[in-house]
Amino acid sequence: MSDNPYQNDRGNMDFSIVNPREGGDMQPSPGTGHAMSTASAFLIGDTMTGGYGNGPNILHDCTIAVDAGEIAVIVGPNGAGKSTAMKAVFGMLNVRQGSVRLDGEDITDLTPQARVAKGMGFVPQTNNIFASMSVEENLEMGAFIRRDDIRETMEQVYELFPILKDKRRQAAGELSGGQRQQVAVGRALMTKPKVLMLDEPTAGVSPIVMDELFDRIIEVSRTGIPILMVEQNARQALEIADKGYVLVQGRNAHTGTGKELLEDPEVRRSFLGG
Ligand SMILES: Nc1ncnc2c1ncn2[C@@H]1O[C@H](COP(=O)(O)OP(=O)(O)OP(=O)(O)O)[C@@H](O)[C@H]1O
Ligand SMILES: [Mg+2]
Repeated sequence: MSDNPYQNDRGNMDFSIVNPREGGDMQPSPGTGHAMSTASAFLIGDTMTGGYGNGPNILHDCTIAVDAGEIAVIVGPNGAGKSTAMKAVFGMLNVRQGSVRLDGEDITDLTPQARVAKGMGFVPQTNNIFASMSVEENLEMGAFIRRDDIRETMEQVYELFPILKDKRRQAAGELSGGQRQQVAVGRALMTKPKVLMLDEPTAGVSPIVMDELFDRIIEVSRTGIPILMVEQNARQALEIADKGYVLVQGRNAHTGTGKELLEDPEVRRSFLGG
């Protein structure tokens, strides 16, 4: 496994092709045809078009964003480009058009590492823990960019996820699926992020564990960390979402508050099972 957890997703690992554009000039936004205010966004991938390496575009004018104090949820069918959109926002993808902005600053050309230093935390969909390392070592790895005392943050993570304190000396790979996801989220929190991106934090866990994870995620958001999250459990996720995005084939298909999307007949029929 590589030393950098952010490179272990299915994403393109060739950093030489990342951020080929010059300068930090903002691109004008062509718009997506959807009424949506992005002026207040704390983190936004704005009308992103791009794909992996020199391959075809996977994202087409795709916008995802989260406001301060909010939870934004991205849903959509398998292969819709949800993870690709997250990776684009995190700088792991060749964004050919559009921009990424964090707290008003254009960060389109920054590496993932530089984005972490700016305050972004990212939990990828796969390979998001170091399985052979202990829980505590995973948290220490999460704090890799910090030079100050990390113990207080570690205690906060243990307060949020008490089971991790009990299991802190155990290899993370021996934990249950839900507990491993707690390790992954905890590790991202170790950098004291200003915004947290989660790609399917409840994948493969039971409904009860899913509810518990959602409760913890809400708790994190209440500490003032906005959350941009991809979720397979669309209905449950939209119930806790301030803003929701339905992506289809790399495009924004529907955007609204979680409530609006849950009530939208087309969204219900196509994505929520009626
Ligand atoms: N590393 C990669 N290189 C090339 N193409 C990729 C890569 N990762 C994903 N793709 C392609 O990009 C498209 C979108 O995939 P992506 O993983 O973003 O979808 P998703 O919405 O996250 O799906 P899922 O619900 O299964 O997680 C798919 O056609 C996929 O084959
Ligand atoms: Mg995915």
